[in-house]
Amino acid sequence: MDPSSLLNLVADGKGNVAVRLAEAAGISRQAASARISSAIRAGLIGRTGVGRGVRYSLAETHRQEQEFKREGLSEDRVWRSLCAPVVADLPPNVRDIWQYGLTEMINNAIDHSGSDTVRVGIVRNALYTQAWVADSGEGIFPKIAKAFDLYDPRESILELAKGKLTTDPAKHSGEGIFFSSKVFDLFDIRSGALHFMHDDGLDDILIERPKDAPGTLVLMRLDNQSTRTTKEIFDKFAAPDGYTFAKTIVPVRLAQHEGEKLVSRSQAKRLTMRFERFKSVILDFAGVEEIGQAFADEVFRVFQKAHTDTRLVPVNMSVRVKGMVSRAKNLAAQDKNG
Ligand SMILES: Nc1ncnc2c1ncn2[C@@H]1O[C@H](COP(=O)(O)OP(=O)(O)O)[C@@H](O)[C@H]1O
Ligand SMILES: [Mg+2]
Repeated sequence: MDPSSLLNLVADGKGNVAVRLAEAAGISRQAASARISSAIRAGLIGRTGVGRGVRYSLAETHRQEQEFKREGLSEDRVWRSLCAPVVADLPPNVRDIWQYGLTEMINNAIDHSGSDTVRVGIVRNALYTQAWVADSGEGIFPKIAKAFDLYDPRESILELAKGKLTTDPAKHSGEGIFFSSKVFDLFDIRSGALHFMHDDGLDDILIERPKDAPGTLVLMRLDNQSTRTTKEIFDKFAAPDGYTFAKTIVPVRLAQHEGEKLVSRSQAKRLTMRFERFKSVILDFAGVEEIGQAFADEVFRVFQKAHTDTRLVPVNMSVRVKGMVSRAKNLAAQDKNG
């Protein structure tokens, strides 16, 4: 039996742990209860309630949390003093991911937030570790909207998803959030009422912070035994000949606000903004049922003609989206021949 299956049954929050463990492991109810008791004694799971109301949850084995003054703060110091000890005995690839993600996000709070203070926390249980970086500064989505003259702070989310987005190009390269969001199991940025990824799996109870708190909150989660590496994620978005950030994947649905359809040339221009910085852009149409003719024409003929060094690769297209894309590409081919 998978030794972590008891922990997984506890973690999925569906209750009935003893019964389900007995079934999954092919053991008696008594044997299942004994395993649960021994996990409780080992400090891996906690129990609340009694009888039919009994509930198990993964116990916190480590917790560190501290508030720092932003001025003069260094992300390396916070990493070394507060965070590294919590993950010290985890596999090296897991420690590397935590060091990368936490130092990038703490550096962001230091360099971009303008907040007086930065709060950092890290909590571990038997299966996974979660961490957060919170500031009470300007707020990431309004800050980006202002810097790029975006009409709606929601457009900041699309821009962040593309990558290579920075409001301080002299000192920064706009890679931290892009790669951090890909290297963790769960990653979310919250500011105002908006979420960057909205991963419901992230425990809201981790940090006591009002939903409408000012500033920015970044939450990350990674399995303690993850086999992912930062290198494999960097490689995935590099050109075959080097380490540069040359490819991106853009979820097209982020260009589509609630109740809207992607029909206009201005929506298409918003989508393709800064695409020319990449050698290839994978356009993920998942969640987009249809697009209009002008939208498709602007992306796949007009933009493409103006930026021949950028390859556009549409994926996850519905039949209707595919039809519109083919039509635009055919017109582009006619342009070239005629
Ligand atoms: N805590 C924050 N508060 C306000 N803005 C932020 C915060 N974190 C990130 N940002 C904004 O998001 C942008 C992208 O961040 P990132 O991907 O780390 O790239 P970089 O730090 O290289 O600019 C930053 O340039 C900044 O405008
Ligand atoms: Mg950064």
